[in-house]
Amino acid sequence: MGLFGSKSKTLVGLDIGSSAVKLCELQAVGKGSGRRYRLQKLGIAAVPPDAIVDGDIMDGNAVASAIRQVMTEQKIKARDVAISVSGQQVMVKKVTFPLMSPAELAESVRWEAESFFPAGQGLDSYALDYAVLDERPTEGSMDVVLVACRKDKLEAYTSCVAQAGASAVLVDVDVFALQNAYEVNTAPGGSDEVVALVNLGAHFTNLSMIVGRKSVFWRDVPWGGHRFTDKLMEDWGVSREAAEQLKMGNNAEGRTPDEVAPSLAAISDSFADELSRTIDFFRSSFKVDRLDRILLAGGSSKVPGLTDVLADRLRVSVDRLNPFLLVELDDRSVDPSAAREIGCAASVAVGLALRQVGDR
Ligand SMILES: Nc1ncnc2c1ncn2[C@@H]1O[C@H](COP(=O)(O)OP(=O)(O)OP(=O)(O)O)[C@@H](O)[C@H]1O
Ligand SMILES: [Mg+2]
Repeated sequence: MGLFGSKSKTLVGLDIGSSAVKLCELQAVGKGSGRRYRLQKLGIAAVPPDAIVDGDIMDGNAVASAIRQVMTEQKIKARDVAISVSGQQVMVKKVTFPLMSPAELAESVRWEAESFFPAGQGLDSYALDYAVLDERPTEGSMDVVLVACRKDKLEAYTSCVAQAGASAVLVDVDVFALQNAYEVNTAPGGSDEVVALVNLGAHFTNLSMIVGRKSVFWRDVPWGGHRFTDKLMEDWGVSREAAEQLKMGNNAEGRTPDEVAPSLAAISDSFADELSRTIDFFRSSFKVDRLDRILLAGGSSKVPGLTDVLADRLRVSVDRLNPFLLVELDDRSVDPSAAREIGCAASVAVGLALRQVGDR
């Protein structure tokens, strides 16, 4: 879904997160069902703490400088980029309408959208977009996904990109980009699997529930990997930098990862609670009684022991998403160890790099 778009061809994917900007460029090879992708560029640049708070840009200069840094390091020539938004000020909703013409749908969508804006705010403050997911002529109905994002939020993100010398020609939503990264790495064929795609970032978790290859439920939960860092600082009296190192499995300030493992396990447990509440809500609302697996993405998916805690608590298999499973890696363009290191955190950027201008 592009909240807005213009012009031609493939885009550079730029995921502007509260902890890091991730960049990905893919080259499409072949056509139609034989189309594959080759990884051309992959990079990451840290965003200072508090430059983005609750998904809102508080320090535009710092964010623009992280974008500029990753674009320069990766020698990005193309200036047209796809970015994404998520969090509190982005609303995603699936609505079933009677079958109708495109003009009637445009009107109905405006009516429907009014119901999800906070009181006193309306279409003047929000950018609205929608896409038809499914048409069922025999039942006379169609499913449509509606997306609304505060215009001032969009403006803040696009102006940071402009300040960094690029142009955000397409704005997507994190959960949809994540889903595209999953789909491009899933072999064709009918599967009725129920998969929870979970992108665990620094401050937010983006969740997309996939049933039989279709995404049916999306949710951004304000739960992120900073909680592991905070817990280590609190329990062990270490600095933020040391806590980050320990979280990544390195010794720091006289502490070892083994020593602090129980603190990480306690927070993994609380994430399991959060995730199972959201998945239970989905199951009861959508009357889906199964969950076949969880695919974890995002920088925090690498927290030691997290996948085991989730598998144990939710009684389901948990794997980390490899966004390059079916993407060709050319080691002249990208160091394979960088792809392994950054890969999972860059899943949203990979999904964005699959987008073309004019996509919906
Ligand atoms: N190797 C690692 N082990 C554990 N945690 C890690 C590792 N690498 C990164 N992280 C954590 O992952 C988080 C960053 O992940 P990611 O880049 O997906 O977040 P983000 O997109 O910047 O954040 P958000 O989307 O929530 O704004 C940070 O909290 C960071 O500490
Ligand atoms: Mg993120």
